[in-house]
Amino acid sequence: MDCEVRPGIHWVGVNDRATDLFEGLWPLPGGVSYNSYLVVGEKVALIDSVKAQFSEELVENISRVVDPGRIDFLVVNHMEPDHSGALPLLRRLARGAEVLCTPAAVPMLARFYGIDQGVRAVEDGSELDLGGKRLQFYHIPFVHWPETMATFEETQGVLFSCDAFGGFQALDGVLYDDQVDVAAYEDEILRYFSNIVGMHTRPVLRAIERLAGLQVRVIAPSHGLIWRGNPGHIVDLYARWARMEGRAEVTLVYGSMYGHTRRMAEAVARGVRKEGVPVLVLDASRVHVSYLIREAWKRKGLILGAPTYDGGIFPPLEQLLRMLQRKRLKGRVVGCFGSYGWHGGAVGRLASRAGELGWKVVGEAGFQGAPTPEDLAAGEELGREVARHVREG
Ligand code: FEO
Repeated sequence: MDCEVRPGIHWVGVNDRATDLFEGLWPLPGGVSYNSYLVVGEKVALIDSVKAQFSEELVENISRVVDPGRIDFLVVNHMEPDHSGALPLLRRLARGAEVLCTPAAVPMLARFYGIDQGVRAVEDGSELDLGGKRLQFYHIPFVHWPETMATFEETQGVLFSCDAFGGFQALDGVLYDDQVDVAAYEDEILRYFSNIVGMHTRPVLRAIERLAGLQVRVIAPSHGLIWRGNPGHIVDLYARWARMEGRAEVTLVYGSMYGHTRRMAEAVARGVRKEGVPVLVLDASRVHVSYLIREAWKRKGLILGAPTYDGGIFPPLEQLLRMLQRKRLKGRVVGCFGSYGWHGGAVGRLASRAGELGWKVVGEAGFQGAPTPEDLAAGEELGREVARHVREG
């Protein structure tokens, strides 16, 4: 594997194929990479590190390029421990190394790792000459935490963008976008975007604007592929996702205890298709919410179906709504449907929660017990109505 990204700039990161849940929340069936980079000039800088349990592997990778004791600067773009976890070991090995971070990260370094000496806060736009390599620091708060920054190596045009432009999926014997079918990675990149940085879409757009003037040849994020073939592609994807421009299609998410709401879901989906609009149907009891968030992010139309449970919304749908509220997904055209045993509750609550989120609710269809032919016809019409709004924008 060619780990020299550009002359004197080396990937020294690791693949994590053992963590089941990223942040204890998000499934990682394909793993994730923690990308760390060594910039070698007359002086040596390490850009970000890795999760603590991979510290030794990081050090081995560094040792293939330089003696870790030679590191002069430990650049901390972001304090989340998937990128800062190796700092304690690195500080022991590179005793003279200075830690560079934003002012907001200084107290965090002390609280997370007890590091309060040999730390320098770098101002937004400031520079550091390594001798043959030159680093510039750009604060990009809330992409992903308030202390986050990006580092730009000016002589080679490499942007170390940290969480920005990253994605899930370990690197299977490759590092670069021009070595793979990028389309096969995009779903996992979007799942990362929507799950991890989705609630920070305005900061993402501000960061894209802020970094637009740089002469970038390579985007080197802290997770996933390094973009050297077409760095503009990942910027375009992130910008589109941050603007929440869903496709003119429908995501239908339902939950069902005894099959009544599921049967209605089939009718609603048929209605959507009759208008010529593609629809994806997902069972919220069986598909992890991480994927439901991603699919809701992809499409303009969102139809939610839930039986009434404990007088309210069936819990898997309630969880989805709570997560979409946290992720601040906007601009969806919504339809709601669902069953009840003796008293309706779920459908009205689905609609009012959707309204609170600023979504446009265009129809509701509630029914008691098993859906009658009339109920199914109403469900089909609900699907058609959502589809018409989606199609017509
Ligand atoms: Fe990949 Fe916010 O850390």
